[in-house]
Amino acid sequence: MKGTIRSKVALAVLFALAGAVSFAQSSGEATYKSKCQMCHGAAGAADTPTGKALKVKPLSDPDIQKLTAQQMFDSTKNGKGKMPSFKDKLTDDQIKDSVSYYRGLK
Ligand code: HEC
Repeated sequence: MKGTIRSKVALAVLFALAGAVSFAQSSGEATYKSKCQMCHGAAGAADTPTGKALKVKPLSDPDIQKLTAQQMFDSTKNGKGKMPSFKDKLTDDQIKDSVSYYRGLK
């Protein structure tokens, strides 16, 4: 009897954790804030000390504006210039979501 209750609790905890994880993965905003913002800035303007030091282009730059979502995805996944590769740190979905959050910034 005690055992069944315990396994039900364990199961509930497991579902709660699974829910939290999939929520985090679908949230490009959370990924952007924790992984990209220090270089690209809260509004994509690259106005952070690290962004300035690495000469990151702001989102408003024509060179950035002309990039497709796919090109941005590839640069983020594989790295580009001084930007680190994220392929070992984020899933493809997380990269896609953080890129689309970034593209939506004004
Ligand atoms: C350590 C600082 C740093 C972090 C963290 C960082 N970036 Fe970058 N990012 C750069 C730099 C530097 C460039 C310019 C690369 C170049 O053109 O040489 C860049 C360029 C880009 C570009 C333009 C790529 C292109 O093809 O020109 C995109 C899109 C981008 N970053 C998205 C992201 C996303 C999304 C994240 C988070 C998952 C992220 N970056 C995290 C530094 C960073």
